[in-house]
Amino acid sequence: MTRLSGKSALITGAARGIGLAFAKAYIAEGANVMIGDIDLPRAQAAAVDIGAHAVKMDVIDRDSIAAAVSATIAEFGQIDILINNAAVFTAAPITEIEVADYQRVFDINVAGTLFTLQAVARHMIARRIKGRIINMASQAGRRGEPLVAVYCASKAAVISLTQSAGLNLIAHGINVNAISPGVVDGEHWDGVDAFFAKYESKPPGQKKAEVGAAVPYGRMGKAEDLTGMAVFLASDDADYVVAQTYNVDGGQWMS
Ligand SMILES: NC(=O)c1ccc[n+]([C@@H]2O[C@H](COP(=O)([O-])OP(=O)(O)OC[C@H]3O[C@@H](n4cnc5c(N)ncnc54)[C@H](O)[C@@H]3O)[C@@H](O)[C@H]2O)c1
Repeated sequence: MTRLSGKSALITGAARGIGLAFAKAYIAEGANVMIGDIDLPRAQAAAVDIGAHAVKMDVIDRDSIAAAVSATIAEFGQIDILINNAAVFTAAPITEIEVADYQRVFDINVAGTLFTLQAVARHMIARRIKGRIINMASQAGRRGEPLVAVYCASKAAVISLTQSAGLNLIAHGINVNAISPGVVDGEHWDGVDAFFAKYESKPPGQKKAEVGAAVPYGRMGKAEDLTGMAVFLASDDADYVVAQTYNVDGGQWMS
């Protein structure tokens, strides 16, 4: 299991959840991993646990992005792989969406993805690194949902950015692709469940049970269900894969 041997990866938002599972899988495949997360204590604890490194990183802040990219290069020599994984969720009926919440979600999910991608792409181009950039989209980006307008729009933007950046950066030998999960159990979905408990008057846990039962595979996803795709997209096997968004969702969505 050394498909990423000698490679160095920066994974944003990897202090927990899907990003942490990616970090573990990459280390198992021989990569060096830097966890970049706004929650530094948790990122550091996770890094010690799995043999990664950690850096404080707020993807809203361009200076913080630049510092995390520099710290990763200083630690490993270069960055071969970036996973833009950090994101936040929000939900509200259209009539109750607040400007500040919209701005926060777009700043993290969209601008955070774009400008982290930009910072790492500049480094890869300057060093002539045939790099890999993986963005985390969502089935939420494939279609709207009545209570999830802002998050859905932010993930649709991630899919679009993946296409444009993929087409632009392949000229430099940098492959940009995305993974689109369905419903993945964990702390993120605990938060989603709480929104639906509020807006649909469901008891806590009921929305989770409903969405899990509706997945064609028969259950919610686990973070580990996504690691095979994340390793593949970073590996030499994905050399001819450009500007794509892959559904890894137990059969939820077909595109
Ligand atoms: N869990 C799901 O069901 C699901 C489904 C589809 C897509 N996704 C996407 O997969 C990715 C990972 O999801 P998850 O379930 O692991 O989420 P999560 O909420 O468990 O983890 C998100 C991580 O991002 C970090 N973070 C938040 N804001 C940040 C910022 N400004 N700068 C840096 N780090 C920040 C958090 O500290 C946290 O460690 C996200 O992009 C999410 O939108 C998740």
